[in-house]
Amino acid sequence: MLSTSMKISKNILQLLHEQIGIEANASNYYLYVSSWCKVNGYDGASSFFQNHSTEERAHMLKIIQYLNDLKIDSVIPQIQKPNQTMKSLEQACKISLDNERKVSQAIDRIINTAQKENDHRTNFFLEWFVHEQIEEEDLFESILQKFDVIGRDKLAIHEIDKILDKLSQKSS
Ligand code: FEO
Repeated sequence: MLSTSMKISKNILQLLHEQIGIEANASNYYLYVSSWCKVNGYDGASSFFQNHSTEERAHMLKIIQYLNDLKIDSVIPQIQKPNQTMKSLEQACKISLDNERKVSQAIDRIINTAQKENDHRTNFFLEWFVHEQIEEEDLFESILQKFDVIGRDKLAIHEIDKILDKLSQKSS
């Protein structure tokens, strides 16, 4: 239910605050992967994941901005320490895809709630995130396909690292 002083419901506000945390944790996770890649000699992948970390921070800021535009304070969450047990570049990409799918589900949950509450403003705001999630899931699916197509030996991984380098130059 909408309170008289707020343009969105408490329910939606709570979900958006949770989403701020989800985006912050995603940014933090990609930062860890970028660092892991650098140390393990995957410079292209390191740049790619660093850019991705910045993108996730931008997603978080977008939600904060949305709330602030409605004159609502945002709660800045504590971030989680990522699970730092990465074993391979492929594993990093698999976890990334899983995480992105979870983010898409979280966005869907807010949209479902907004639609139930006739909150067209939030529904419209989240459309951008729906498109973004489609792109991100596609991106990681296509990167994971490369491991099947090119291979998993050292040379193949080097090629995939070069592809990620090119992708990072496109997005920066
Ligand atoms: Fe902002 Fe990739 O979720």
